[in-house]
Amino acid sequence: MENYNVIIIGAGPAGYVAAIRCAQLGKKTAIIDSNSALGGTCLNVGCIPSKALLESSEIYHQTQHDLAQHGINVTQVSLDLSVVQQRKQKIVTDLTGGVAALIKSNGINLYHGSANVLSKNKVNISQSDKTTLTLSTDYIILAPGSKPSVLKSAIVDNHSIVDSTGALNFTEVPRSIAIIGAGVIGLELGSVWQRYGSNVVVYEFQDSLLPSADNDISKQAGRLFKKQGLNFHFSSEVIRTVIKNSVVELSYKDSNGEHTETFDKVLVATGRVPNTEKMASFKELKLDSKGFIEVNAQCKTNIDNVYAIGDAVRGPMLAHKGSEEGIMVAELIAGNFGKVNYDTIPFVIYTNPEIAWCGQTEQQLKQKNTDYNIGVFRFIANGRAKALAQTDGMIKIIADKKTDRILGVHMIGPQVSELIMQAVIAMEFKASSEDLALTLFAHPGLSEVLHEAALDVAGNAIHKVN
Ligand code: NAI
Repeated sequence: MENYNVIIIGAGPAGYVAAIRCAQLGKKTAIIDSNSALGGTCLNVGCIPSKALLESSEIYHQTQHDLAQHGINVTQVSLDLSVVQQRKQKIVTDLTGGVAALIKSNGINLYHGSANVLSKNKVNISQSDKTTLTLSTDYIILAPGSKPSVLKSAIVDNHSIVDSTGALNFTEVPRSIAIIGAGVIGLELGSVWQRYGSNVVVYEFQDSLLPSADNDISKQAGRLFKKQGLNFHFSSEVIRTVIKNSVVELSYKDSNGEHTETFDKVLVATGRVPNTEKMASFKELKLDSKGFIEVNAQCKTNIDNVYAIGDAVRGPMLAHKGSEEGIMVAELIAGNFGKVNYDTIPFVIYTNPEIAWCGQTEQQLKQKNTDYNIGVFRFIANGRAKALAQTDGMIKIIADKKTDRILGVHMIGPQVSELIMQAVIAMEFKASSEDLALTLFAHPGLSEVLHEAALDVAGNAIHKVN
C-alpha cells in the first residue's frame, strides 16, 4: 500500500493550493478528484467561466449602447453565442490544464476517482477506470467543496430549469429568464443574459438584494440594476414551477397573493450546500446540522491529523478563502506558523458596476454598539471615472471613532474588484483612516476615490462640499 505524508481530497482552489504548498514544504503528497479537469467548481463551472461570460456580454452591451458618446457609430451589431461559449471554454481548459501541470511539476500524485475515507490514516479510491485502491497517510485534508442547494418548488432538469452550471451553457439567448435568489450568482448571471437581451425577472425571499452587503451599497446597487432593466420581486416565495411545451410556468406568492408568470428558463440560485455526503464512510468525523465539517480556527476537525478547508467548512464560500486555508493547513502540517485572517476577506461581485467590500458593515457595527465615523466619496466627482464614462457608485470607509482604525470599506463602482485590495492591504496592516488620508495617490486615478473617502472620515475631503 502506497504511503503518503498528506492526502488531499478535492482539487478545487482549496485542495490544489494545499497540495502545492505541502509539496513545496517537502511532504509526499497525493490529491484525489473525481472530475478529470482540476480546479473544482471555481475553474470549471464557477468563478472563471462566469467572469468570461460577464466580460463578453459587457463588451456586447457597451458596443451597442456606450460607443456613440466616444464618437464611434456602430451599426448592425450581431452576436455569435457559439464563439462566446468557445472562448469561455478555452479559458477554462487553459486554466485547468495549468493546474494539472502545476500538480505534476510539484511531484504530487494525482488520482482520478471517488475517495472514501476509511479511517484517519486510510483512504480508499474508486478510480475512474473502475479499479479500487487503498492508500495510507499521516495527514488528510478534506476539501470536497459545495454544490447548488435544491429548491423543492423548482427542481433542476438541466434544460428548462437550471442551476448555475446550466446557466453558463445556454446555446441560445433565452427570451426570458426567471432567477430565484437575488444573491451573487443571481445578479452575476442575471446581468450576463440581460445584457444579451433576455427579459430577466429575479424572485427574492428577502425584502432587498445582497443583505450581507452594507445597506448603502445594496440600496444603490438595487437602483442601478433596476435602471439597467433587471426586474425584481422582493419578499416573494416561488411556490411552484410547471414545465409545459418547453416553457416554465412559475407561481410565486407575495403580500398581494399568488401569481403565475411564464419563462423560457428558470435559474435556481438560492445558495450552495457543502458536498459532504461522501464523508458518511468516515463515521468519526463530526458534521454540523447543515452538513458542514466542524473545524476550529486552524481548520482542524475533531480527529487528530485530519483537516478540512474551503466551502465544506464554516465561513464564506469563496475560492480565495479556501486557498488561504489550504496554505495555512500545509504550514501547520509542516510544523510552521499558519493563520488565516478571517476579518479581512474581500468580497467581490462582478456586476456592472462592480461591488466589493472588506470588513464590517454599518449595520453590523450598529448591532454591536460600536461607535464609528464614516467617510464617503462618489465616483461622479472623479476625473478618471468621468474619462471612463463610468461615474456610478461610491466608496465608503468606516473607522473606529476612538482609534480611527479602519473597520470596513464598501465599494460600488468601476474596477472596485481591484480597488478593494488597497483596502484589504490597509486593513491587514491595521491602518487608520488617517494613514490612508496621509498617503499620496496618483492623479488622475480611480484610487483617488478611496483617498477622498479616507479624508472624508475627518471631514477633510477636498473635492466635496463638506
Ligand atoms: P447567495 O447566498 O449569495 O444568495 C442566495 C439568495 O437566494 C439569497 O438572497 C436568499 O435570500 C435567496 N433565497 C434563498 N431561498 C430562496 C427562495 N426559496 N426563494 C427566493 N429566494 C431565495 O447564494 P448564490 O447566489 O447561490 O451563491 C452561492 C455561493 O457562491 C455564495 O456563497 C457566493 O459567495 C458564491 N459565489 C461567489 C461569487 C463571487 O465571489 N463573485 C460568484 C458566485 C458565487
